[in-house]
Amino acid sequence: DTPGLVDTFGRVATDLRVSLTDRCNLRCTYCMPAEGLPSLAREKVMSRDEIARLVGVAVRDLGVRQVRFTGGEPLLRGDLAEIVADVAALDPRPEISLTTNAIGLDSRAEGLRAAGVDRINVSLDTLDPDTFARLARRPYLERTLAGIEAAARVFDLVKINAVLVRGVNLDHAADLLSWCLERGFELRFIEQMPLDADHAWDRTAMVTAAEVRGLLGERFDLGPDAEPRDGAPAERFVVRSRDTGERLGRVGIIASVTEPFCGDCRRTRLTAEGGIRDCLFAHTETDLLGPLREGASDAVLADRWRTAMWGKRAGHGMDDPSFVQPDRTMSAIGG
Ligand code: GTP
Ligand code: 5AD
Ligand code: SF4
Repeated sequence: DTPGLVDTFGRVATDLRVSLTDRCNLRCTYCMPAEGLPSLAREKVMSRDEIARLVGVAVRDLGVRQVRFTGGEPLLRGDLAEIVADVAALDPRPEISLTTNAIGLDSRAEGLRAAGVDRINVSLDTLDPDTFARLARRPYLERTLAGIEAAARVFDLVKINAVLVRGVNLDHAADLLSWCLERGFELRFIEQMPLDADHAWDRTAMVTAAEVRGLLGERFDLGPDAEPRDGAPAERFVVRSRDTGERLGRVGIIASVTEPFCGDCRRTRLTAEGGIRDCLFAHTETDLLGPLREGASDAVLADRWRTAMWGKRAGHGMDDPSFVQPDRTMSAIGG
């Protein structure tokens, strides 16, 4: 057996996040600038076959067991179902998931499931159309909801991701949770990370996990979840009615900033340009697409990937005075 993606701290990366495009049809304030970003030239972005080749190396040679497709917005790839099918055909077959804004999912959910998508996470920050338009800078709440409805019909597990922004959607948190509980969706609230294009992130303004727990506690009873966290980014809570004690479902909180989980990190990331990032907050990338296009063997690509991950830092270092936000925004990393 060849060694997997280990680092000097003994962590093993078995989850791969693949960004399929840097483009997006929304402009969420915490992720992209209003004017968008210059998008990558087509020939710089990995093709379907190149993705299959690199994910194949990860799964066959490097022990990757879960593959998540992100973007930008992965549904903007017309060949998404084909890419998924290629990865589903790998042996061993990895678990395949998607993180999406759900726009256009209504007509594609069925096909994606048939191709091999196992589960879906959808970003939805509010149910109020005006607030949606303000946060996403596009008036597409209806389209997003139509996509979520389709996902609920087709997939067994739908998670909803919400980033709370003070003065914008913070007051909508409990309503969003009610809505998700009624539909059986697992909602996760995510602390905003300094990956916005405008570099406007401000730790003192950020909505913290502790604040979210307090806010939800005014309306629901939150209790510990018996299931082990198992390296997942979200800490999960069982939600019960305050009046009757009835179990309503679960909620997660992803406290990347105030309660980092870097010590249990299992992630490796492949950018749309075919570069390896060992961390969301990495400042360097290891190019695999260049060597692939120049004819490198699987063994050489696997070695480059191992070397890239070996040097992964202990954590994001946001608390160090020397912390510098990466040049790439969330939209170009894929979360
Ligand atoms: P599952 O738990 O497998 O459903 O997926 P996920 O939560 O890892 O993926 P998703 O794309 O839904 O991401 C939700 C949030 O978690 C996003 O804000 C991600 O940026 C964040 N996240 C995912 N992986 C990491 C990570 O390795 N480090 C940090 N700090 N945040 C992460
Ligand atoms: N901080 C935290 N989460 C973010 N996301 C996008 N930008 C940020 C940020 N700056 C979330 C989106 C999406 C997931 C992939 O990352 O809401 O659900
Ligand atoms: Fe892993 Fe980096 Fe995320 Fe920490 S910030 S959990 S090290 S990817």
